[in-house]
Amino acid sequence: HAAPPHHHVDIVSRTPPYHRLVKKLQEVRRVLGHSRQLTLAEKILYSHLDSPEESLLSNTNNGKDIRGQANLKLKPDRVAMQDASAQMALLQFMSCGLPATAVPASIHCDHMIVGEKGADTDLPNSIAGNKEVFDFLESAAKKYGIEFWPPGAGIIHQSVLENYSTPGLMMLGTDSHTPNAGGLGAIAIGVGGADAVDALVDAPWELKAPKILGVNLEGELSGWASPKDVILNLVGQLTVRGGTGYIVEYFGPGVKSLSCTGMGTICNMGAEVGATTSLFPFSPAHIPYLEVTHRGPIAKAASDIANSPMKRNLLRADPEAEYDKVITINLSTLEPHINGPFTPDLSTPLSKFKSVVEEKDWPRTFGAGLIGSCTNSSYQDMTRSEEIVKQASAAGLKPKADFFITPGSEQIRATLERDNTLSTFSSAGGTVLANACGPCIGQWKRTDGTKKGEANAIFTSYNRNFPGRNDGNRATMNFLASPELITAMSYSGSTTFNPMTDSIPTPSGTPFKFSPPKGSDLPSAGFAEGNPEFLPTPGIPDPTVEVIVDPGSSRLALLKPFPEFPDSELTSLRVLYKVKGQCTTDTISAAGPWLKYKGHLPNISENTLIGAVNAATNEVNVAYDVDGSKSGIPELAKRWRDKGQEWLVVAEHNYGEGSAREHAALQPRYLGGRIILAKSFARIHETNLKKQGIVPLTFVNEADYDIIDACDEVATRGLLDVLRSGGKGEVQIAVKKKDGSEQAIKTRHTLSEDQCGFILAGSALNLLARNARE
Ligand code: F3S
Repeated sequence: HAAPPHHHVDIVSRTPPYHRLVKKLQEVRRVLGHSRQLTLAEKILYSHLDSPEESLLSNTNNGKDIRGQANLKLKPDRVAMQDASAQMALLQFMSCGLPATAVPASIHCDHMIVGEKGADTDLPNSIAGNKEVFDFLESAAKKYGIEFWPPGAGIIHQSVLENYSTPGLMMLGTDSHTPNAGGLGAIAIGVGGADAVDALVDAPWELKAPKILGVNLEGELSGWASPKDVILNLVGQLTVRGGTGYIVEYFGPGVKSLSCTGMGTICNMGAEVGATTSLFPFSPAHIPYLEVTHRGPIAKAASDIANSPMKRNLLRADPEAEYDKVITINLSTLEPHINGPFTPDLSTPLSKFKSVVEEKDWPRTFGAGLIGSCTNSSYQDMTRSEEIVKQASAAGLKPKADFFITPGSEQIRATLERDNTLSTFSSAGGTVLANACGPCIGQWKRTDGTKKGEANAIFTSYNRNFPGRNDGNRATMNFLASPELITAMSYSGSTTFNPMTDSIPTPSGTPFKFSPPKGSDLPSAGFAEGNPEFLPTPGIPDPTVEVIVDPGSSRLALLKPFPEFPDSELTSLRVLYKVKGQCTTDTISAAGPWLKYKGHLPNISENTLIGAVNAATNEVNVAYDVDGSKSGIPELAKRWRDKGQEWLVVAEHNYGEGSAREHAALQPRYLGGRIILAKSFARIHETNLKKQGIVPLTFVNEADYDIIDACDEVATRGLLDVLRSGGKGEVQIAVKKKDGSEQAIKTRHTLSEDQCGFILAGSALNLLARNARE
């Protein structure tokens, strides 16, 4: 008999390089001085530096002011990608010409699966609708040695927690909730595809050293309070921007009372405060979790480090470590919270929720309770919810709201099926959806008759609740809460019901009141294996595999390298468009229906800048050619590109704010853009532009914005010298107006030596490919 599939878990590729990390940490201590006290996040991060000396001592007042100052050049241990963002990441990786990824990596097909009737019909339908994308991802994974988790296997963050996250690991993931892995003591950061490629080809990945926000947990959770409530409370305190530039590091006596998956939930939603990532220290709960997920040797290796006589070891913060800020949460007095609608930081304690609903006149009933997802589908979450269902069923009650359950992975689903948790849900009228993102990412065909635009409420145990996110209806108010609270509230169907204090009338007439939920952190019989078809392909490269991209496809297109920088200044550029006001990554590359073209650069480029306001006419997406003829921006850009006319865009403040969406840099480059000249840039987008070979310049005198217009002819002065000297010197822009008059504009740049290399090579990818060939 063959051994059960999980026994083939490749422990070697899943164990962080502890030996190397411990040695690197010693080097960090030597560089910073042995008395220097470090937080846990700093230890893990800095022990992944390519060269601690170079990263920690430049620009930092000799190592004194690292946080917020140093440019860390990091070597992550692993990469995880989801199906939507993996497409561009892989297309970029492929153009480097390497035979295999330099670090272990995995792909998880979860975002493109629609939730409607339940897993059995939804999964085949979604696979059929996205076949060419899944085939591409699978063939590329096999060729380059990436573990491929097929549609139905689970949601990226749940699968990562169950398989890849480990204490001390550093991982990049092409999804914002990658920090979920911090629940198991890893530094896991959400990035765009081009950043993932850095790690996949073993090039250093750059990060501005984050500040560290400490969250001190005291006391112990009990009753209705759950890990979800810790983070719902913290998001309320910090707001959606409060964690920007920070890593959130948890510590304190309350940590040991939390389950491993509960810590995952808390780190997952750290994304909602804008934090770089969140993490927990190595904790007793990590050991049984690693063991039950077939990673006993890793539990042992991590315990050996954490228990080593060296008190200042890799897996715990130094005793006197300093945090830039500290927030204390007392778990013993923490109440359940409900956050929303429309923003995750609008946080209300359960005891106040009824009065807030009445005061704000929010809907008094709600149509659906949805539990599970990458945030909250652990054994603990589901068994606590199950126990609530059992209490209600025993009293003869049925849920009043529609009730949906999204398991985070096949492993958890099969385990819940074996332990009869799922049958408890289904016999109460619940619908078990596929192991995928489904309603969390708008892949939900709601069939309860709610009309678009009609105000209504739903409760979810997910992490985001922006308008339109779940059912495409911007009037749907999504309230975030713990799965057990949502389950209980679904029996009343009322938004003002408080299961801790209120009762529900039963068919027999006696009022019924819930007792606090009880569950188990982990299945006593271990996890079930589940359907073997959902196991990943092995991470062994096979050069004979051909990557499948149909040349006639509308959804996938191989990338062609962008041309190198010429041996001269840029001359005869033209201003394609002068943007007025805000210009976010959504303005530059709209989402919604365009998302299906994420793997097809020519097709998605048809949306380039279509949200941008014309500074001369106030029209949106209306551009004028030199002869005065009028068209959309992408049309003019294409026309110019096809006749060899390269161009620039002129813009105002914070160009490219919003997200790390790399398409917002790739598309202008693909259409012939060379320079963006703005009053200021959003930092991540500025870096993305340089990676794709576009030069971002800012006005020295902001008023010069007024002297340059659409269709002006432009030449650079000094740019070639700046690029060839690794960033030294200044760039001027010579502007020739339609009437023949000329003016010069002084600009600033922020090109580092590496980034000059990207621009000269045509893109960071070209440079990586060249280095890989050499
Ligand atoms: Fe998927 Fe929603 Fe999580 S989209 S990865 S379930 S945040």
